[in-house]
Amino acid sequence: MAEKKELTVSDLPGVGPSTAEKLAAAGIDTLLAVAVSSIGVLTEEAGVSDSVARKMIQAARDMLDMGFETGDVILEKRQKVNKIKTGSQSFDEIMGGGFETGAISELFGEFGSGKTQVAHQLAVNVQKPEEEGGLNGKVIYIDTENTFRPERIIQMATGAGLDPNVCLKNIKIARAYNSDHQMLLAEKAEDLLKEGTYKLLIVDSLTAHFRAEFIGRGTLSERQQKLNKHMHTLLKVADMYNCCVIVTNQVMAKPNVMFGDPTQAIGGHIVGHSSTFRIYLRKGKKGSRVGKLVDSPNLPENECMFFVNESGLNDKEL
Ligand code: GTP
Ligand code: MG
Repeated sequence: MAEKKELTVSDLPGVGPSTAEKLAAAGIDTLLAVAVSSIGVLTEEAGVSDSVARKMIQAARDMLDMGFETGDVILEKRQKVNKIKTGSQSFDEIMGGGFETGAISELFGEFGSGKTQVAHQLAVNVQKPEEEGGLNGKVIYIDTENTFRPERIIQMATGAGLDPNVCLKNIKIARAYNSDHQMLLAEKAEDLLKEGTYKLLIVDSLTAHFRAEFIGRGTLSERQQKLNKHMHTLLKVADMYNCCVIVTNQVMAKPNVMFGDPTQAIGGHIVGHSSTFRIYLRKGKKGSRVGKLVDSPNLPENECMFFVNESGLNDKEL
């Protein structure tokens, strides 16, 4: 194979030293970060025109593909993508059949919107056999807010017809005490993923430590850079081990906007554009939950309605 020069953001068309500096300050310091960015973000952060931003993104994507893998490899990977069902048909439908492996899915929403409940349900459902919407897989659960509840897993496992004790044994939980610890745990997860039996990695919450530790504008770009790095680790393990990665992100609805505006997401564009699927959760009528898939590349922006019952997620209130 011909020797490859390590390409950087500065190799992109339209990126001179000052643009590169502005991008780096916004945490966009790798080709991958540009490739997963949006035109709006690049124009805002680097002050380039729409057409330059579009060319930069396209070129970054081309360079990455050339540098790393060919189309047949991508096709092979796409064929390996598996889906974990949620227990609600309506939810599965908006996800194109369930939560995908090889990708990061971000559950975002307000306090109490059901992010942790959905994470618990997927930690149970991934353990089901394939014909029942699972992957016969084990789970790595990075818990940053101390909200993992084994009692809730027992209820959901029973609801799913699984042995609750086996189910609990198949979930490896690590408490992350701060953002550095959280980042380290994500890197360490690779050791477990290498075994090939783990199919789901959950980070609940992705952003809470980062939000608590980096307060004020001065530290914003440092926070974005760290979050960016963390997301890259997660993307890498999702991709390399064909693992489903679920992250949660608390957002506050803007009081002056009818629909809770996702632009309030903590971590902003870095998280948004590294996640392959973004699901906005909120409370619906009569105790229901509403999930809405937003800015996902291949699927339409659809909404679903489901219930969180004692036995777990379902289309109906049980
Ligand atoms: P934050 O982490 O605070 O941002 O919230 P979250 O989005 O993770 O919310 P969470 O998933 O913790 O949702 C809490 C809601 O789930 C509660 O208000 C209940 O409606 C529901 N819930 C939690 N535990 C149970 C349970 O054991 N049974 C049932 N039926 N519902 C539950
Ligand atoms: Mg939670």
